[in-house]
Amino acid sequence: MKKSSIVVVGSSNTDMIIQVARIPKPGETLLGGKFLTAAGGKGANQAVSAALAGGNVTLVARLGKDMFGDQAVAGFQRNGVCVDYVVRDKTAPSGVALIFVAKDGENSIAVAGGANGKQAPADVKKAAKTIRTAAALVVQLETPLETVQAAAEIAAKAGVPVILNPAPAQPLPSSLLKLVSILTPNETEAEWLTGIKVTNDRTAAKAADKLLARGVKTVILTLGSRGALIAEASGHQLVAGFKVKAVDTTAAGDTFNGALAVALAEGKALVGAVRFANAAAALSVTKIGAQTSAPRRKEIERFLQDNA
Ligand code: RIB
Repeated sequence: MKKSSIVVVGSSNTDMIIQVARIPKPGETLLGGKFLTAAGGKGANQAVSAALAGGNVTLVARLGKDMFGDQAVAGFQRNGVCVDYVVRDKTAPSGVALIFVAKDGENSIAVAGGANGKQAPADVKKAAKTIRTAAALVVQLETPLETVQAAAEIAAKAGVPVILNPAPAQPLPSSLLKLVSILTPNETEAEWLTGIKVTNDRTAAKAADKLLARGVKTVILTLGSRGALIAEASGHQLVAGFKVKAVDTTAAGDTFNGALAVALAEGKALVGAVRFANAAAALSVTKIGAQTSAPRRKEIERFLQDNA
């Protein structure tokens, strides 16, 4: 099988994870945690997920010239991600995320973006040729919006589909949304972007329609273990998720986006691509960590066969 080329423009972090019984309340000290570090950052997670799912992936990112940056780059190379456009910043540290993971798999994350915040349109322009010849561009919102916009402009102008994962949520200009082929918010991000609280199928459809009205061609609203709602001008379809025992839901959305990009780049129809991505996301929540939990192609295919 010929690998499909995917470019991911976005963030890279080192995740400092503490596993606790529950997420601590403000002002509270909670004892009994277990600590580990793992590679993270929404952009890097999506790139590694896509590479492990079978894509030929280039990551455009900015890291510090420090130990965390070295470890991140080594991880990308180990996972087969092209690092030709990973810039090492001499003046800003690599991004770091502090993550609490509770017993039920839920998490709470705070990010010190460091060098991610300095990713500039010029970084993206250096990768323009690679973006123009890709089968898909994947972007998120942990790097400056003007950089996301620059990447989307290059891709859209060349007819390359743009997948925007609007995480973490922030106001999005119409100039960006109209370049987006597929927008992939989760329930929280959809509420943030539309003002509609997503609590059931009806409100999910309402929120997705409001996003379509802003110029996006396709909305895929991820609904956790329930699956994902595909919304297009022609109608809606819920693609059911898979029930698994969640250990850590961190980066489930990132894994979904990486796998989705691969499936679409390979020419899978939308419903099949979302089912593939649902399977990858389900597998990812059964393991701790972000990039450490992304499944390989074979695992995804076996899981889909076992759950047909
Ligand atoms: O989506 C999960 C990611 O969010 C973590 O890996 C963390 O680094 C933050 O970017």
